[in-house]
Amino acid sequence: MKMVEIANGVYSIRVNHYNRKLFDSLIPLPQGTSYNSYFIKGSKYNVLIDTADPEKKDVFEDYIKNIERIDFVISHHGEQDHSGLIPFVLEKYPYAKVITNEKCADLLKTHLHISHEKFQIIKDGERFDIGGKTLEFVFIPWVHWPETFATYLIEDKILFTCDFLGSHIATDELYSRKEIVYEPMKRYYAEIMMPFSNFIKTNLEKIEKYDLKMICPSHGMIHNDVRFPLECYREWSTGEMKNVLILYVSMHNSTYMMVDRLITKLNDCDVKIEKINLEDADLGRVAMGLVDAKTVVIATPTVIAGPHPKAVYAAYLFAALRARTKYLAVMYSYAWGGKTLDILANMVSSSKAELIGNVAVKGMPDDASYAMIDELAKKISEKNS
Ligand code: FEO
Repeated sequence: MKMVEIANGVYSIRVNHYNRKLFDSLIPLPQGTSYNSYFIKGSKYNVLIDTADPEKKDVFEDYIKNIERIDFVISHHGEQDHSGLIPFVLEKYPYAKVITNEKCADLLKTHLHISHEKFQIIKDGERFDIGGKTLEFVFIPWVHWPETFATYLIEDKILFTCDFLGSHIATDELYSRKEIVYEPMKRYYAEIMMPFSNFIKTNLEKIEKYDLKMICPSHGMIHNDVRFPLECYREWSTGEMKNVLILYVSMHNSTYMMVDRLITKLNDCDVKIEKINLEDADLGRVAMGLVDAKTVVIATPTVIAGPHPKAVYAAYLFAALRARTKYLAVMYSYAWGGKTLDILANMVSSSKAELIGNVAVKGMPDDASYAMIDELAKKISEKNS
């Protein structure tokens, strides 16, 4: 594999993982993903930025096989899809040091057993001259771990952001195009970044002070239209949400009849709806739906006295991803009893979303059930108008 020069003396090392099915063993990756490393040649020092997932060591090794000298490895983030091959690099270049911050060094010591003397610890805003090129370190914590930082290459106006502004796509196409990168970037944002939307706002403000010609993340494509990813992140983290997201599962059609009625009524009110059947749902799509959902409706049958396990999973994901959703409603069917509402309400109790309604139906919906659903639709449409 050959590194690709993206600026004078700056090279892209794109390790594609085309057939990776899940990220974090959780979110499906319909387009795979990539682990991006970068190599910068200075007149004094050669620097490698991040590495790749150890699962792709052979590809990474092939890329760097002709590099005679690596003096420093910058480790932006302790997670192993970027740091996992640092021990291999240190073995190949035994004099190399790892440039990182204090928090990341702690993580690398515990996760990869890299010894203390291998680190050169940097501070926020510190600069490092590698000969004809100057690196400035920019701390951007909690995108998505506490130690995360970026590096700005002053002379070339390139910002290396690691996970921040990345996208889940495996491709040899070097530079992002809006129509290609939007969905993989949103899928990435939804799973990895959404829980930290407050930090994203602060970090966007921080990096936008830099004169940016190129943004080089460690997943997916390089952004040379830098406004596009920044605007997407601003919209997703602080923009106005409008959608109603209906997450449902049905066993004997009663719950589906409730969902169908709700959608019919919401359509009358001109509310933008996204519905996802949890039976065979792509959880990445659920997560992406949550990015835009002002209201979430969870609809489920009662199974063994509680919500269907697929609805439990969705409720857990909703709470864990800390969606900015403002309103929540529950619809459920039951045969003789159960604690479906209590269980779901308890599961999402950490969310700031207000529970604006619940509809419980014994057996198949009747006119009285539909009247309750119509009432809920009215309330949702008022909240989403
Ligand atoms: Fe791509 Fe947080 O690792």
